[in-house]
Amino acid sequence: MVQLTINGKQIEAVEGMTVLSAAKRAGIEIPTLCAHKELTPFGGCRLCIVEVQGFRVPIASCTLPVSNGMVINTQSEALSKSRKFILSMLFSERNHFCPFCQVSGGDCDLQNAAYAQNMTHWPMQPGWNKFPVDSSHPYFVLDNNRCILCRRCVRACAEMAGNFTLTMAERGASTLVVADTNVPLGESSCIKCGSCVQVCPTGALIDRTSAYQGHDLAMTEITSVCAGCSVGCGIKLIVHDNRIVRIEGDWDAPVNRGVLCEHGRYDPMNETRTRLTKPLMRKDGKLEPVSWDEALGAVAEKLKPLAGREHDGLAAIASTRLPVEALSMFKELFLDGCKSDMVTSSEEGMTTASAHAVAEKAGAFEGKLDLLRTADVVMCIGANVARSHMVAGFMIKRALPKGTRLINIDPELSELDELANISLKPVKGSDLALVKGMQALIVKEGLGRAFLEILDADKLIAEAVEVCGVSLETLSSAARVLANAVTPVILFGKGVTAQRDEELIAALLDLARLTGVIDSERLGLLSIKGEANSLAAAQLRLESQFVLNGQKAVFAAIGDDFVSKRLVERLGQSPYLVVQAAYASALTERADVVLPVTLWSEQAGHYLNMDGRLQAAAKAVEAPAGIRESTAVLAEIAMRMNMPVKHDWRGEVKILD
Ligand code: FES
Repeated sequence: MVQLTINGKQIEAVEGMTVLSAAKRAGIEIPTLCAHKELTPFGGCRLCIVEVQGFRVPIASCTLPVSNGMVINTQSEALSKSRKFILSMLFSERNHFCPFCQVSGGDCDLQNAAYAQNMTHWPMQPGWNKFPVDSSHPYFVLDNNRCILCRRCVRACAEMAGNFTLTMAERGASTLVVADTNVPLGESSCIKCGSCVQVCPTGALIDRTSAYQGHDLAMTEITSVCAGCSVGCGIKLIVHDNRIVRIEGDWDAPVNRGVLCEHGRYDPMNETRTRLTKPLMRKDGKLEPVSWDEALGAVAEKLKPLAGREHDGLAAIASTRLPVEALSMFKELFLDGCKSDMVTSSEEGMTTASAHAVAEKAGAFEGKLDLLRTADVVMCIGANVARSHMVAGFMIKRALPKGTRLINIDPELSELDELANISLKPVKGSDLALVKGMQALIVKEGLGRAFLEILDADKLIAEAVEVCGVSLETLSSAARVLANAVTPVILFGKGVTAQRDEELIAALLDLARLTGVIDSERLGLLSIKGEANSLAAAQLRLESQFVLNGQKAVFAAIGDDFVSKRLVERLGQSPYLVVQAAYASALTERADVVLPVTLWSEQAGHYLNMDGRLQAAAKAVEAPAGIRESTAVLAEIAMRMNMPVKHDWRGEVKILD
């Protein structure tokens, strides 16, 4: 720790910290523009200048490390004059006629910084050249005329998403933000995460959906959780007039620290499916609107006699996007209450069942996503996280330039292939031989950090090379890199878990122990799982394969999820189908009764992310009149079937924090 004085106040700071961070921690605000807490200090705008005793000129505090005995002043007549001069230069350099910019009015950091310095005008003649406006991107517009060259967007693209699409071109006053080799954004390598837009301090990057929808000061900001995949990113919902105007990453969320992916940020804003607003019942072959009483009465009357029957009873299936509350109630009603022999989730345990089964025998072994921040080697097997769980993919991608090495094992084409230090393309379904081959190589070369009995290493290595179709050289490199790592992490995904092969998971567990991925201090093996509540569904025992075996009816609690064609075909074979859903789909078209329910943003609930973190999602908007929450519908059906549910979900899921 070092001691310093800021504005006469004695402060203790951690060595390596910047003066800006130390001041902030002590409650002293210094004006900034280019600095951002999730980005590496850049020192471009100079607004954060401070006076340091012994220094001839003011110094930018965002790049100045603290040192013992430093005496700093953050406010003075001279500093205020300099800051006004800096801001005047910025305003005059490009088109910053704020009243005509859509982020003006409380949302623009440049404008706010000027107001904070009591500026009402700037004394310099504007003298800028016209810059092109790039409107080729589907989600945002890049207007270099409003850019202050702070490079927050460029740094966010590299440091948050690990994508390196944005960069700077030209020099001096002509400098501008471009994508790749100056191609239109819409044709660039942008992965549409929107991080650049979220960090832009002016109107240079403008969100298409929320532009001109009103100032942020007039909006309500609601902290919640993304109900997309099992990463469980924290989000801020910007709401106006009962409508979500924009979704932003929550800078304080422990999982994602502000970064989001395209699916979390933009998909909900571009929903095109038709909303269901009334209960429907099939009458004379056609779905007709009916009252809730009629629909629920008909469902209860049909399902009640089927409860408790072994094979000709009822089957039930629920989406893993539903909150834990709804999943738990669903399980209580159909599995515990009706004792149905086919109660599962829409993922059918594809991402969880085999790992869950091994964990039950071997004890819990899965680790935390957070370990990716410090991993020196990451091995991804059957997990194209850059596509399926993009924010987890960002965690890997942004670590690579810092020296983290990536081993990617995937028979399918993967975005990670070209980023990986070692890429293995084994024959589909040969993962077990490959993992055993790696184990054998490590044991044979004496690189193991724990004992693993291997009787005939040469045979296993030869088998791996032959069965997997990979070269001995590549397999050996992968094994050595993993074995020599200090803080290795193994991620396995659907490519592995969908094989439902417990022996394969057990072999991965052995490999993890052998290489120090798992030891007494670290659990570095993690399955990627599926949608938002995959893990909760597994813990609620909703992970069987869905097979219709003479059941007389199916209840499908889909919520706002998409339904695969394959599932529609299987569910459509049921003699009687009840679908509880938010949107019309090929499945609701086949239903006998359709019950319209709320979306993720219209209900409060909990989600258990892939590493067992229980997070609360908030209700952000009211559902259209007449639509009920999934829990309310399930509770009503249970009551009408004389099987009231307790709704005690907290005892049903295990938080792994
Ligand atoms: Fe320090 Fe911009 S905030 S130079």
